[in-house]
Amino acid sequence: MNQSSLPIEQFVTFKPLNEDSIRHYLSDLSFIAPIGFHIVNSIDSTNTYLKNTPSNATEISVCIAETQTNGRGRLGRHWVSPFGENIYLSSRWTLHDCVSKLAGLSLVVSLAIQASLEQQGINDTIQVKWPNDLLWQHKKLCGVLIEVIPDIKGNIQVIIGIGLNVNTVIKDDTLIDKPWCSLHEITHQYFDRNKLIAHLLWVLNGHLKQFRAGGFNAFLTQWNKVDYLKGHNITLMHPNGLMQGIANGVSEKGNLYLIDNQGKQHELSSGEANLIKVTN
Ligand code: BTN
Repeated sequence: MNQSSLPIEQFVTFKPLNEDSIRHYLSDLSFIAPIGFHIVNSIDSTNTYLKNTPSNATEISVCIAETQTNGRGRLGRHWVSPFGENIYLSSRWTLHDCVSKLAGLSLVVSLAIQASLEQQGINDTIQVKWPNDLLWQHKKLCGVLIEVIPDIKGNIQVIIGIGLNVNTVIKDDTLIDKPWCSLHEITHQYFDRNKLIAHLLWVLNGHLKQFRAGGFNAFLTQWNKVDYLKGHNITLMHPNGLMQGIANGVSEKGNLYLIDNQGKQHELSSGEANLIKVTN
């Protein structure tokens, strides 16, 4: 698909990704950190691009594409990336001494996206599902793929890949097996992705600074306000098998608390969680 095959209403409002426009919005926000942009029409995966590009620790590298031919999700899944509709963005950041805190990092990234959308007036309840999905009315709005590259100086570089469904008009779609949604479905509006991207990078930069200084602890209150799983009966697929129980929030490291059927609380650092639907 290319620009000429967008739905008519969307074609009229279509604004291509544009570096000058993003920089203009960044300067409105007084964002001054150096950023190197690589903005393309089509790429296999924005995360893969940054992984294969020599790092420049003096700036934040950002790759954004109108479409991805091999967009990657967590657990080896494919990320569907229709042309010109959504945000497919990867950014690379250098973190110092943070290896032990990485579990918290995923949660902080999803909180940054949620906060950015809320600050831009998207007020409908958007929740975060541990460790880093954003959901609206049980449907996936955004996914995050974080990849870690240790560097020779003992720092780590993290590549934060964000797939945010923005202007896609949701139809019965067999390409994606799980329920999903877009900002358009939530608000019935089309968005200028350049403005969303600038704001998102600004909030992400602020959240990462705070995370580097104080770890995940400082974000616990924010997490508790938007935690999708808390108090619900869930299944958790994790490296040692399938667990079931009640999600009981997260620890100060960002690990998930799960109370099993015997009442024992477990603290888990990885896994794929899903609500168990109650049927009447
Ligand atoms: C998930 O499985 O929920 C994570 C999806 C992450 C998709 C984004 S789109 C931009 C970046 N490039 C990729 O190949 N993946 C991430």
